Amino acid sequence: MINYVDVIYGLAWGDEGKGKISNAIAKDYDYVCRWNGGPNAGHTVYINNTKYKTHIIPCGIFQDKPSIIGPGCVLHLEKFYSELKYLNENGFNIGLVKVSPKAHIITDDHVAYDLDNLKNKFGTTGQGIAPCYSDKMLRKGIRAEQVLPKEFLWNEKLHGAVLCEGAQSVWLDIDHGTYPYVTSSSTMPYAACSLGFSPRLVRKLIGVAKIYDTKSGVDPLFPETLWEDESLSAIITEGAEFGSTTGRKRLVNWLNLDKLIQSIRLSGCTDLIINKCDVLETVGKFKVIFDDQAVNFYNLDTMKEFITTLITENTSVETIVFSASKEQILS
Ligand code: IMP
Repeated sequence: MINYVDVIYGLAWGDEGKGKISNAIAKDYDYVCRWNGGPNAGHTVYINNTKYKTHIIPCGIFQDKPSIIGPGCVLHLEKFYSELKYLNENGFNIGLVKVSPKAHIITDDHVAYDLDNLKNKFGTTGQGIAPCYSDKMLRKGIRAEQVLPKEFLWNEKLHGAVLCEGAQSVWLDIDHGTYPYVTSSSTMPYAACSLGFSPRLVRKLIGVAKIYDTKSGVDPLFPETLWEDESLSAIITEGAEFGSTTGRKRLVNWLNLDKLIQSIRLSGCTDLIINKCDVLETVGKFKVIFDDQAVNFYNLDTMKEFITTLITENTSVETIVFSASKEQILS
């Protein structure tokens, strides 16, 4: 029997540091599960000052927890095996990694189609994500149960305390994001229920944002002129804003509070984490966009106060935590 489910998800355009939060709190759960996306995602965690990266395997693996890849995920076999090998070589117990028999398989044709038709147009990660989900919808996809050895297939029921780990974010969601500059899965926390539990079991909706916004790939809300802004360029460097899957530089903008409030309300966020505050402190510039206007602050504290007041007044978030890049946040 499941006692409760907590869901970690992104409130912006991805790359908010969801993996870090998942790794920090995973020890309190019986399972850590991914419900969407595939090798387009990139989660970076630090354990004893060593950096580890995963793309498809949930961060629960770093805390020795059963790590489940759900039916709504897509898997490229070679990349999956190479991630397992990497984790195994680094001493993690890959016997804990299980894949839903219903997850879909990304083929080389999917990748080729993405690279030839979508990557330049939309700035996709080129991992074959959209073609794979489209074959799923056309009822001609290949499921994990057809190709994965039995040892990797998930054939049990979830129980106890469950943590779900989102990939991508609200503004990349196929339904609610900036279509067509979105990914092809449901990134909203309600989609975590596709893992096979009732929405009534959800306890916390842990939404993660950064103190500034970033976008990898094309999006009309991030005009090319942003590249020319010196302070924003300093944030790219200080915040190491480079895609963990593609290596691309991410376009940075000041935190858009209108969009953040909208995504908190849309997704039902109960616990808000705002990451990477140290980056602004280093760069020494403090600004948000609110009501479509830029608002400047003298220091980080007044900026945090402004954000806290507006979010408290306009949403039903219960807790707000401001965090620094490598800081561990405990539940
Ligand atoms: P796709 O998911 O590869 O089809 O890419 C579609 C859009 O989502 C592109 O703008 C990508 O840059 C973006 N995207 C996909 N995965 C991530 C991620 O993990 N972080 C940030 N952006 C992502």
